Formats: sequence, structure tokens, C-alpha cells
Amino acid sequence: MHYPFEVEKLPYAYTALEPFLSCEILRFHHDKHYVAYVNKLNEILKNYPNLQNMSLEELLTDTEALPNEAKTSIRNNAGGVYNHELYFTCMNCSDSELPTDHLAAAINVAFGSIDQFKAELSGAAVNQFGSGYAWLILSNKSLEIIATPNQDTPISATVTPLLCIDVWEHAYYLQYQNRRADYVDNWFHLINWDFVGARYMSLMKEPV
Ligand SMILES: [Fe+2]
Repeated sequence: MHYPFEVEKLPYAYTALEPFLSCEILRFHHDKHYVAYVNKLNEILKNYPNLQNMSLEELLTDTEALPNEAKTSIRNNAGGVYNHELYFTCMNCSDSELPTDHLAAAINVAFGSIDQFKAELSGAAVNQFGSGYAWLILSNKSLEIIATPNQDTPISATVTPLLCIDVWEHAYYLQYQNRRADYVDNWFHLINWDFVGARYMSLMKEPV
């Protein structure tokens, strides 16, 4: 996908994630916050025809190709698009709390147990200072958990995010107010493990 970037529709209804995530939150989050990043990115790229054939991933990884005066705004807005698209796709309403098969085995190897994985991801999300995300990433074929501020994206030649939770206040405040830990706890009900597991398998097949 290249310029002009198009808004991805939510892969489920606005009400699909209730009661864990309200319709009101999802509507604002997708239709206002995410859409604003898409529009802003297109607005910036309108002035740079030579960047218009770059994919979202290329804009985030090939920063040498970006003009100095637009580097920060492209990184922030391309990050806002990429991060939100992954966040929305990583959720569904199946209420399957556990990963399966190869991903479950890899999580056990990396973290010791599924419970320990959840504790570490939850800790990264709750303790991220201010706005940002907590991530399950694949780094050189190994699973790791990290947190990033603002719209930073942990994507590079050897690192690919598998799963993320948005901990900006706009992701939970209308329903949870200041109780980020409650939002994070409930978000575990929403993980689309089929998507994350398939993404893991496809990345593991690629050469390092
Ligand atoms: Fe967000």
C-alpha cells in the first residue's frame, strides 16, 4: 500500500469488543484518532512526490530516504497509522485467552509460561510512562516484550511486531478513566490469537 494511504475499516463492528472495550471508545479511536494519522500522513506526502511510492513499512524503516525537515512528522504519522492498524487487527471478540500451537510453544520457551508472558506484557503496558504501546515482537526469530513511547514503532530489518496494545489515554479513558491496569487486564480477552499465530508462523518462514 502506498500514497494516498487509505483508511482500513475495522474488521468487526464497533460494538464487537464490548463489554471489554466500549462502542464509544472504538468509534472515537478508529474514526477520529486513527483516521487523523492517515489524513495527516497523506497531507505531508502530498508535498514529496518522490516518497509517494514508498510503503508504510519503508517510510518507517528507510529513514535515510526522508528529508530532514519532514523526518519527525512522517515518523510520527506513519507510526500512528501502522501502530493503530496492527492494534485494531490484533483484537477480535472470540474471547480466546490463550495462544495455541507453535506460538504457544514459543511463548513458553521465551517467557517460561503463558502466565509469565501475560504478566510481562501487562507490566510493560501499565508501566509505560505517558502515551505509547506495549509490544510482543519477533527479534531475530526470538520473542520479546518491549514498550515504546508516543507513536514509535519497533520495526526494522530484523524486528517485526506481532501484537500491540495501545496505552494512550484515548484507548481507554472514556470507559476506564485512570484505571489503565483494568483496561490492560480486560484487553487480554480481546487478543486475536489466530491472527497473531498466523503472523508468527509466516515470519518464522522468512530468512533472517
Ligand atoms: Fe490510539
